[in-house]
Amino acid sequence: MKILAIESSCDETAASVVEMGESPRILSNIVASQTEIHRLYGGVVPEIASRAHIEAVSGITYEALTAANTPLSEIDAVAVTANPGLIGALLVGVNFAKSLAYANGIPLVPVNHVRAHTAAAYLTEDAPKPPFLSLVVSGGHTSIYHVTDYTTFREIGATRDDAAGESFDKVGRVMGLCYPGGAEMDRLAGLGTAGAVKLPSPALSDGSLDFSFSGLKTAAINHLHTCEQRGTPFSREDFAASFTETVVTAIASKMVAAVEETGVSTVVLAGGVAANSHLRRGLSEALAKAGARLIMPPLSLCGDNAAMVAAQGYYEFLAGNTAGTELNASAAD
Ligand code: KG4
Ligand code: ZN
Repeated sequence: MKILAIESSCDETAASVVEMGESPRILSNIVASQTEIHRLYGGVVPEIASRAHIEAVSGITYEALTAANTPLSEIDAVAVTANPGLIGALLVGVNFAKSLAYANGIPLVPVNHVRAHTAAAYLTEDAPKPPFLSLVVSGGHTSIYHVTDYTTFREIGATRDDAAGESFDKVGRVMGLCYPGGAEMDRLAGLGTAGAVKLPSPALSDGSLDFSFSGLKTAAINHLHTCEQRGTPFSREDFAASFTETVVTAIASKMVAAVEETGVSTVVLAGGVAANSHLRRGLSEALAKAGARLIMPPLSLCGDNAAMVAAQGYYEFLAGNTAGTELNASAAD
């Protein structure tokens, strides 16, 4: 079954054609990033994002179909990210997908963006089958799900304030890194010594599987400001290494606890922050010690893309979760 998927929830306009089935094949995966546009403002400007999606969506979809060598007549379903995300950005993809599906008589499948991040794992050679645990770490989410079947996600842990990616980006910004700072923090962390700066853990110590990243973010930013005001010699590399280690240790400890609590020993790591090399290594080691298996999509499928939307769209379609022209986007989960 060939799925055409469209993603526009934040600052990437993406389209992809994926042949789903026993062994899925990505026929095309086109991502147009708006990072350069938003960099000027140090973060995503929602209205600018919506306008850029409108300009890009039609061409990107055409490119995805052409690269997949697949005419619209061979598409069995159009999947689209319908929530959560920036409402104006989501509406662009949703309305485009609705029109395309309606005009061509193709079933329309709304997809949740967070589920889609998890579904990137179905496109790997090591595709997991539910039940498994999924940790989605992105610019908007830090959540642990117990996935009991392809369309049943139970949130068992989450951040109570900022997301992990948001803390990387905001701290990176104060360090003078370009938006989004996550990838540059990753690189700098590899050059520094962890533990040089003591920072508070974002793992809540109340017996829950929840996180709070705002305290860590504030402490990190305060440290940077204090160093600047006092003129204290400062190593960006050591700071990035310490910040990253604090995040990785917290996430690893909660994931080990989640495995122990649920008895589920397969874990998926997904979302933009899943590209972090230190998190990939630290979580692999911690879960291996706990006897659990970690599945990580390749870097190309960690950040926002439409192939992951197609993968989740396939299972939503099989579950009968299609929509008509009444489909609306929603900013909330
Ligand atoms: O999933 P994603 O592309 O968009 C959302 O759904 O939010 O995630 C984007 C986030 C940004 O905060 C970005 O800084 C972060 O992922 N990110 C990273 C790395 N690569 C991207 N964070 C840490 N280390 C990285 N290597
Ligand atoms: Zn995302």
